[in-house]
Amino acid sequence: MSHILEVSDFCKSFLVKKRLLGENDVVSAVNHVSFHLEEGEVLGIVGESGCGKSTVARLLLGSIRPDQGVMRLCGKEYDMARVKSQDLADFRRAMQMVFQNPYSSLNPKMNVLQNITFGLTANHIPKEEASERARRYLDAVGMQSSYLNKFPNSLSGGQRQRVAVARALAMEPRIILADEPVSALDKSVQAQVLNLFQDLREQFGISVIFISHDLSVVEYMSDHIAVLYLGEVIEYSTAEEICQSPQHPYTRELLSSVPQISGSAHLRTAEREPPIELPSPIRPPSGCRYHPRCPYRTERCAQEVPPSTAVGPDHIVKCHLCGN
Ligand SMILES: Nc1ncnc2c1ncn2[C@@H]1O[C@H](COP(=O)(O)OP(=O)(O)O)[C@@H](O)[C@H]1O
Ligand code: SF4
Ligand SMILES: [Mg+2]
Repeated sequence: MSHILEVSDFCKSFLVKKRLLGENDVVSAVNHVSFHLEEGEVLGIVGESGCGKSTVARLLLGSIRPDQGVMRLCGKEYDMARVKSQDLADFRRAMQMVFQNPYSSLNPKMNVLQNITFGLTANHIPKEEASERARRYLDAVGMQSSYLNKFPNSLSGGQRQRVAVARALAMEPRIILADEPVSALDKSVQAQVLNLFQDLREQFGISVIFISHDLSVVEYMSDHIAVLYLGEVIEYSTAEEICQSPQHPYTRELLSSVPQISGSAHLRTAEREPPIELPSPIRPPSGCRYHPRCPYRTERCAQEVPPSTAVGPDHIVKCHLCGN
């Protein structure tokens, strides 16, 4: 399989407080993150709240600039710290976002048809073609065309998220970037929306980056998984390998408290965060960022940053204990 997207060495810090004396407070939100997405696959990005998932999504879309990082998208390479407005247009043509909160992501003053066609006509797609796409993709997400005239306030959360997915699909992107797309939905609706993502991928062969704090959801959805911890990818492999044979102590911690999903209709989400708080990203722990929480830490772990090491043909782990 070819890589439709390759991300190399993304770093992003945010200045949160300037100090007259001493070092400024800088959040290291994304630190040397690399991963790739294969054509037609679902890549899950998982990690607890505050670990940098949404920042990665915003960096990919070019809505914020990284301090450094190279992205290869559909065969073309971009130096992301120096993107131009033409590059942003390329990203938006290739990637479309589905956000967490369908209550705020649709324009309440526009009906469903207008919500879907707005971005299309702004991109110079003729009105007729835009309306035709709105019908086609609304149908693809399982909604009848009678919904085209309805306004968001008359739709349920699940229906709004379907419209948001139809809007993203209507741009006919190569990649859908879904940032916690079911977290704001009722439990009963979550499984339906997840199944919708699975169907779309089969129907359109679209590649998906699926971001969630919930490993059970990511496991169910993904071919490959990247596990983020405090801004770093600490493990990357196939979903099967991550869940059957996790190597990094943090991945094991995540898995130990995650109920499994079995079958397509039975979703039981892990409504919990890992037990111990994420340390501050302002002055992250030295060496391995996970070391204060790690039951296997040694002196070396607080001093040396572990390298990303291949422990199998398709399995990378960032831990001193693994692969050496
Ligand atoms: N614009 C910003 N200014 C300052 N800090 C930010 C900004 N955006 C994100 N952060 C910080 O970066 C870290 C990662 O945030 P985020 O990417 O939203 O995490 P996640 O999506 O995994 O919950 C957090 O510590 C967050 O507070
Ligand atoms: S490098 Fe050390 S502290 Fe970090 S996960 Fe591995 S054993 Fe634990
Ligand atoms: Mg987020």
